[in-house]
Amino acid sequence: MTSLDKGKSIYLDLDGAQSYAIVWLNGHLVGGWPYGYARFRLDLTPYMKFDGEDQLAIRLDNPLDSSRWYPGGGIYRNVWLTKVEKVHVAQWGTYVTTEDVSEESAKVNLALQVENKGNSSQQVQVVTEVYVVDSHTGEAGEKVAEFPQATLNLAGAGKQQINQSITIQNPALWGPLPSQTPNMYVAITRISSRNGTMDTYETPFGIRSLTYSGDDGLLVNGEHIRIQGVNQHHDLGAIGAAFNVRAATRQLEILREMGVNAIRTSHNPPAPELLDLTDRMGFLVFDEIFDTWQHNKTANDFHLIFDDWHEPDLRAFIRADRNHPSIFVWSVGNEVAEQQTNETGAAVAEMLRDIVHEEDPTRPVTASMNSAKPYQPFPRVFDVLSLNYQGEGIRDTPAYSQLRGIATPPQYPAFHSAFPGKMLMTSESAAALSTRGTYIFPVANLTSAPVNDTSGGNSTSLQVSDYSLYSADFGASPDKVFSSQDRNPFVAGEFVWSGFDYLGEPTPYYDARSSYFGPIDLAGFPKDRFYLYQARWRSDLKMAHILPHWTWPDRVGKVTPVHVFSSGDEAELFVNGESQGRKTKGEYEYRFRWDEVVYAPGELHVVTYKNGTEWADATVKTAGPAASLRLAADRTSITADGDDLSFITAVVLDAEGNVVPMADNEITFDVSGAGELVATDNGDPADFTAFPSPQRKAFSGLALAIVRGKAGAAGSMTVTASAEGLEAGTVAVMAD
Ligand code: GAL
Repeated sequence: MTSLDKGKSIYLDLDGAQSYAIVWLNGHLVGGWPYGYARFRLDLTPYMKFDGEDQLAIRLDNPLDSSRWYPGGGIYRNVWLTKVEKVHVAQWGTYVTTEDVSEESAKVNLALQVENKGNSSQQVQVVTEVYVVDSHTGEAGEKVAEFPQATLNLAGAGKQQINQSITIQNPALWGPLPSQTPNMYVAITRISSRNGTMDTYETPFGIRSLTYSGDDGLLVNGEHIRIQGVNQHHDLGAIGAAFNVRAATRQLEILREMGVNAIRTSHNPPAPELLDLTDRMGFLVFDEIFDTWQHNKTANDFHLIFDDWHEPDLRAFIRADRNHPSIFVWSVGNEVAEQQTNETGAAVAEMLRDIVHEEDPTRPVTASMNSAKPYQPFPRVFDVLSLNYQGEGIRDTPAYSQLRGIATPPQYPAFHSAFPGKMLMTSESAAALSTRGTYIFPVANLTSAPVNDTSGGNSTSLQVSDYSLYSADFGASPDKVFSSQDRNPFVAGEFVWSGFDYLGEPTPYYDARSSYFGPIDLAGFPKDRFYLYQARWRSDLKMAHILPHWTWPDRVGKVTPVHVFSSGDEAELFVNGESQGRKTKGEYEYRFRWDEVVYAPGELHVVTYKNGTEWADATVKTAGPAASLRLAADRTSITADGDDLSFITAVVLDAEGNVVPMADNEITFDVSGAGELVATDNGDPADFTAFPSPQRKAFSGLALAIVRGKAGAAGSMTVTASAEGLEAGTVAVMAD
């Protein structure tokens, strides 16, 4: 900034800095914010020298034991230096709500706050125009409406709010894919004086109606939408917690492929760009702020600052996010200990709920409950009810009943009868565990079993079987959750714990690096469980998926159960052409299983049927020795801005082109030309090779390389993967 900028307001806007940020400018303490996920603004103006030499310093501190998962560290989200005229739209100074929404018309309300940071009073004109957002370019398209022009007389150092409403005819509604379309609008506010435009401020928003019903779950624009959600932590696997738009987009694309329509931001405010993506891509969002209140989960977590900071944090969270149409519920907490502190805990809950109601009266408030019971004071506080695990029951089946810990019978019926008018959903379900492509025998003859060394787990190799039957001690297989949801059709749906594997929390093997919960591994490769969800959530998709793989040189003659996930209702399995019987999916059954199959090398083939006609088939063949590497890029053309990424999958193939399912060859990735390697991974929760390493072992036949273009250096790059004894693979990626 130079002397030409004198007279302007200069702000520092941080989208998140982990954590306990303290900011100095030119040696003056400006301010700070402790919560590492919070967005905050500091006014730098009083300390600016405007001589081109201003020196900003930010100090962060990451105390040990401050988080149950990998929080990342440092400035891991965008930081903005915002330069505006003294009169400008205040921070998060627009709030757009919609009401009386139908396909014919909708009322759009705007609350606009304009701030005058100067000393003298100012008369300004304000006008806000509404444009359709072009879904391809994301830019403002056709203008559809305009709020009345207003004249404001702003006192020096004053702030003023105006409230305006308009009606939009035939609005293009926002709704989640695939049954609806996420149409967006943008309100563009212009502040001007005799001397011209002083500020232009864009507020993207959507028009939709939400109904929360005790009996019918969630209705969006009048249509019942079953919540097919997942929990996502904020890290992006091998590239860590630093937010990256492409990495987050890829996660959402993979989740969409599985049939996901909703995301829970467990358990902290998300990066703003994530909400831009969920708006644009049509996902519903359960937006959550805290994992702890006054009582701690780890020694140095948020409880240390709850009393001082819950209010500024909560108000900032709602103000920052409330214009996003994708958000359908606010959550003020996850599994807080205050569930069990009776009226004291309920009073804290009420205080938080009331703050949210003040900041956004249009959406309901919840907190995720793993232990509160319907007869306790805690659940009464919330507008909608969200349960973790206890809806489907915790340790309530024989396989789990011997385990230590609380046993809870299924709570859906009790909550529904105690609160018949409140929407009930599951904010964490399953906590199922598995390692991609790993199978451990014998296989449990149950639909859900806890993991231990005699049941789906191996505490030496630190792996969990991918038969999709095993779970954490307090959890359940997807099958058990599905059945419980189907028996209680008033439940609005579920958020699976978790969508992707994430860094940290490697239950049940705490010597590993990353979790086992996802149906998708840390590298973004689907596990078998992915297809179990897909079969249920995309019931119109013709799909069939066989597990396990069929390359078992040391299992010849041994019982090797075969399970099939399909959206069909009948299936016939063939082993080397011989039928193993045609099976029908019974009520509350979600997979086909042939548990007596004896392994012989060759071919598994399944044909599935729906309503009596052929639906989908799948084949798995025994692979020969590894012969080559094949590379495939998720995008072969990227932007050369240093941020955009291409995710390249390396597959180990045999001479016939079959994936070699147990291949663990050491692969070396090399990038030549106008790009560079960012990180590698393979989805193995027990692989401690550093993520930036160009050497990465294949795991269950796959490895991943993440590459980017260099900022400002457009051109083509060639990515090569080589491994001893294998034909190398290459792929070209264009960055421009
Ligand atoms: C829940 C908790 C989540 C995660 C999950 C799996 O109790 O809310 O954050 O820890 O268990 O362990």
